[in-house]
Amino acid sequence: MSFSIVALFLQYSNFYVNQFLLVSQFIFLILQNTLQYPCIYIAFFMFTSRELRKKYIDFFAKYGHQEVESSSTVPHKDDQTVLFTTAGMQQFVPNLMGQPHPKGTRLSSVQKCVRTVDIDEVGDNRHLTLFEMLGNWSLGDYFKKEALAWSWEFLTQEACIAPERIWVTVFGGDKDVPYDSDAEKIWLDLGVPKERIIPIGPDPKNPKKGRGDNFWGPAGPTGPCGPCSEMHIWIGQGEPKSGQNPANDDTNFVEVWNDVFMEFMLDENGNLSKLAKQNVDTGMGLERLTMILNNKKTVFETDVYAEILAKIEDISKKQYPPYHGDEDEKNPTTRAFRVIADHIRTATHIIADGIAPSNEGRGYVLRRLIRRAVRYGAKLGITETFLSKVASSYIDAYSCFYPEISSRSQVVFSTLTLEEEQFLRTLERGEKIFEEMITTGNFSGKDAFTLFDTYGFPFDLTKELAQERGFSIDETEFEEAMKQQRERSRANKNFDRKGSENAVFDGLPATEFIGYDALESEATILKIVDDGEQKYRIVFDKTPLYAESGGQVADRGTIKIQGATFHVIDVKKLESGVFVHYAHSVHPIEGSVDNTAIVSVDKTLRLRTARHHSAAHLLQAALMQVLGNHIEQAGSLVDENRTRFDFSHPKALSSKEILEVQKIIADWVLGSYPVNVATMPIADAKAQGAVALFSEKYGETVRTIKMGEVSFELCGGTHVNNTSEIGAVQIISETSVASGIRRIEMVVGAAAQELLDKTYWHEAEIANRLKCTPVQILERIEKLFAEKKEQEDMIRTLEKTIAESQAQTLFAKAQNGELEEMISETQLPKVVNIAKALISKGLTKVVLITEDGGIVIATPNGGADAREIFKSIQAVKGGNGGGSPTLVQGKGVRI
Ligand code: SER
Repeated sequence: MSFSIVALFLQYSNFYVNQFLLVSQFIFLILQNTLQYPCIYIAFFMFTSRELRKKYIDFFAKYGHQEVESSSTVPHKDDQTVLFTTAGMQQFVPNLMGQPHPKGTRLSSVQKCVRTVDIDEVGDNRHLTLFEMLGNWSLGDYFKKEALAWSWEFLTQEACIAPERIWVTVFGGDKDVPYDSDAEKIWLDLGVPKERIIPIGPDPKNPKKGRGDNFWGPAGPTGPCGPCSEMHIWIGQGEPKSGQNPANDDTNFVEVWNDVFMEFMLDENGNLSKLAKQNVDTGMGLERLTMILNNKKTVFETDVYAEILAKIEDISKKQYPPYHGDEDEKNPTTRAFRVIADHIRTATHIIADGIAPSNEGRGYVLRRLIRRAVRYGAKLGITETFLSKVASSYIDAYSCFYPEISSRSQVVFSTLTLEEEQFLRTLERGEKIFEEMITTGNFSGKDAFTLFDTYGFPFDLTKELAQERGFSIDETEFEEAMKQQRERSRANKNFDRKGSENAVFDGLPATEFIGYDALESEATILKIVDDGEQKYRIVFDKTPLYAESGGQVADRGTIKIQGATFHVIDVKKLESGVFVHYAHSVHPIEGSVDNTAIVSVDKTLRLRTARHHSAAHLLQAALMQVLGNHIEQAGSLVDENRTRFDFSHPKALSSKEILEVQKIIADWVLGSYPVNVATMPIADAKAQGAVALFSEKYGETVRTIKMGEVSFELCGGTHVNNTSEIGAVQIISETSVASGIRRIEMVVGAAAQELLDKTYWHEAEIANRLKCTPVQILERIEKLFAEKKEQEDMIRTLEKTIAESQAQTLFAKAQNGELEEMISETQLPKVVNIAKALISKGLTKVVLITEDGGIVIATPNGGADAREIFKSIQAVKGGNGGGSPTLVQGKGVRI
């Protein structure tokens, strides 16, 4: 018993300390702000983004809204209008167009949104590529009146923003849609003075913007849209001067909320038609709202970025510079922190939502984000691979809101790390080639272009390198080469690699592939095509370089011709059997076709790829063992970084099945089975039970790969000599590709080892923080959750009891059903609770004034107008505030 009393005391003393801290922060801010801005009282409440998202959902639940989970950042495959989900309404497009939603006609959500048009601007005070949008929807249910009234109530009473700071806009009208006088009237009725209601219509100076900022949508080229009304908060000093308003892009106003009245549909011809029903679509940036309520000037100073910035500080051993104003945008350290934090936050979500880096579309956006983050990491002096550590801190902090980032965390980590390593290799290779280029004593704009175009080496890094070595780059020449390239690719849009381009190699004999046994060989050049820009296509009589086939990527390597080095970046096998080597060299070729060359394979990459290919065979065999003989390969990709294997199976694998498959492969690796290669007639191979691809056409003689007695397949790829060379094995994901087709991704060898290391130490760190052993982690977390819930329940009960008992004491002081009283409680939300409790006890008027000049006035429904009572008090005692006919809260009342 005594133990539980002590525990209770400790819990509550802790609770009161927290409350005390909150109150003192609040008083401090009030003092600070009233001194700084004497004209306008600014009410600031410290809310974390975590509190705000809950407050928002709870508030709209009160008005009958059902919460809908955030949809993926990648729109549904039927929605081809946008690359990423840019607004909360995206998942509701069919519903806005009339399809019923299973959760009803009033919905709310917190949606992860990705907007990447301004990637290069990130780092300044404003731009982000990912933000969370708080939104509420009416699907043919309520319309302007309720939507605006609730927005106003939320901002003034839940978020406690002083009404004087809120400015609103309404659609100014054009030839198709009239001036939104309805919205204007609603705002006036809510108490917004006319001078703070700004009409915004089409901008004649900016016809590209169509109907202007106050007509929203569609999200893509076609879809639901409508006039909107925005809420802007004044964050400037003092009062706005005449002429200052949200229409003039004044940065002292921050747009927080947009209420769109979606009643139109825009078609491909630019015509508007009325939708079947009038809908409401609202959106408010969670980060911005948090920023305003915490008196911060950028979102990076809010709790949203706290964990991620702290992690970058930890890794870089540098401090995120404190806010200094607009100058921050030029501070390279500030920019680097922000770019990494923003880009990794976005990358984490879009990888978890199924995107992999590539050279087009969404994959390209992801690649840019990752590469920019790597480069900005280098600017902070980070030399190790670090992206997955940053992602991990974000995942730890946010997986409770977005569980998918936790369940797909291994895919996030491996994707980030592989792309990071690949980019670091690109940088390393680029630097080597740069060194070669400058041995000529010259470095031209064209050289910089080649580095960029052929080797993916970023131009700004080339500039830095050149500067360090005392070369200046002719940027006009670089731009000119870029322009020509763009024109060429425009002209080549429908170019067919298999057709005319390689017709130059018609008539050449098939190339002999000797790369199963040799990794380096002398070869005779049969043809060289100079493609300009120091790029060449070369064909030899024989080659050790593997050409892309059977899901295995091509080897990379080098060619030496008369002492000059050519870097091979791709090898393609034509239908005629000719291997075309795509190579680059800074040295011009002047030789004739009977020149000999030394052709070498990059051994490290070859071995990494071979490991992943052999592992793919073991994977298929293990899947057949665990799931049955119906398993058939439906596609595969193996490269130096991963095995991706698609196969037929009707449903997702359970974790038990995945672990079983992995264990079998690992056992076979430890079994050190020899890998035997044999060529034989196809009939013999089939008779011996070799696995072949149903869809593949094979010749009469086939190559077979046998691993001990566990795997026997027809295959032309390159493999390890013994299964033990595969090393560590880790399956990192199991997903669906199409109906009845599953995909497993697996990393082996060094890549798997790195992943295992990371996971192991991560788990150890968690256990350490939880002060338990790794096996006790789950149990410990369950316990913490239970304790947290218990404490929250107690706090709620306690708060209720306190309010009730304070109300009880005060009730006795009421005269004629009315009470006007000074109280010591200063936290307005609590004072509101007390006032409401008093009204529910039957009082007809309650005026509570706090010791620091706060005021709450409450009346019952149908009673006197609280706003009128406030006005009469204000006339004598001053102060500012606002609210509804039954509840007003304010500050600054003279005592
Ligand atoms: N769709 C509107 C916007 O993105 C409101 O959510 O601003």
